Amino acid sequence: MDFSGFYKLSVEERLAKVKAAADLTDEEARTLLETGALGKERADKMVENVFGAIHLPLGLATNFVINKREFLIPMAVEEASVIAAACKGAKQTLPEGFKADTDLPVMIGQIQIVGVSDTKTALKNISLNKKEIMNAAKEFMKPHEKYGCGVKDFKAESLKTERGVFVVVDFFILVGDAQGANMVNTTLEGVAPMIEKLCEKGAKTRLRIVSNLATERKARASAVWKKEVVGEEVIEGVLDAYSFAEADVYRCSTHNKGIMNGIDAVALATGNDWRSVEAGAHSFAALDGYHPLTEFHKDKDGDLAGSIELPLAVAIVGPAVNGSPTAKIALKIMGVKSSRELAMCMACVGLANNFSALAALSTSGIQEGHMKLHARSIAIYAGAGPDEVEKVADILAKEKNFNIDYAKEMLVKIRKRL
Ligand code: MEV
Repeated sequence: MDFSGFYKLSVEERLAKVKAAADLTDEEARTLLETGALGKERADKMVENVFGAIHLPLGLATNFVINKREFLIPMAVEEASVIAAACKGAKQTLPEGFKADTDLPVMIGQIQIVGVSDTKTALKNISLNKKEIMNAAKEFMKPHEKYGCGVKDFKAESLKTERGVFVVVDFFILVGDAQGANMVNTTLEGVAPMIEKLCEKGAKTRLRIVSNLATERKARASAVWKKEVVGEEVIEGVLDAYSFAEADVYRCSTHNKGIMNGIDAVALATGNDWRSVEAGAHSFAALDGYHPLTEFHKDKDGDLAGSIELPLAVAIVGPAVNGSPTAKIALKIMGVKSSRELAMCMACVGLANNFSALAALSTSGIQEGHMKLHARSIAIYAGAGPDEVEKVADILAKEKNFNIDYAKEMLVKIRKRL
């Protein structure tokens, strides 16, 4: 089938082509066109080749008291138990809740210059012209100055690689309440020719791009889970689980995945770029050897003290956030007034999710709770209506049989009984 010019078609025309190519039913095609609050016009403007939209449940994480303030935190996620884990982990920190803080919202942007034979002289020239370079970069950040943004500094280094020695210039840019990639990239593209000229004749600029390893923009959170609340067994279990993650990279990957379950869900709900959040988190975890993003120890009272630290380059303004009507509402529900507050909330959710996962895994295991929720999903998938879901799910969970055909069979039986 010819898909040339697909991008020029309307959403409906594209869908018709996909429907024909994949032999979709009318109902399947209609399902894809249910774009909800996003709307097909808006979806069509956001990305290319749009022929539909997907939907995710939006749930609410409750019980979050952060720096003595209560927060309601919307989470968008397809996986059952993630929101319940966040709520439970947060509840068990009450009444104190979480303490959280962040760095200033500083992003790092990188310029790569190749074809420099004398990097020593190039770096010297860059250093001698620091003021001019800073002034030029500041000029490109001018439109954002009124939002508290600006160029803070830069550093230039030589980088030995398999393709020769590059000059790499890292800019440190305050991005306010934005994620910052656009303004950083524009500034880098603007200032790169000047730096290229300073390197040497024949030098060539290659990459000019923000780094997702936002080490200058970290968020931190901590909380205490009291032994009277969670019990000694949970504390010992979490500590064993944490030590396992510290010592074994296969476990550590999953440990950090549990943290990102919560953080990504808030990123998605608030229209943030969860891929950049993921890239930042895991590359940060990999600095000096892949390590857990959280830390747990027993404090002097024998309670469990937990903390988290990771880069969180998230926004409360910008095209993605503003382009999504639900993201704006999610931010309103949270009541966050800055990108830093949002990052603090996300760090707390990550810590809560991690605590709950480790507490469950190290004691009763997660399958029991997971399977109850899974049973509900299977029941819905089997066609159970709102009044039937619990009945079918109960049977599946009791029988420990999560086969879709069995769920359909049980649904028929339940319907016959009515
Ligand atoms: C599942 O999405 C997340 C967990 O595997 C996290 C963990 O093992 O710590 C439960």
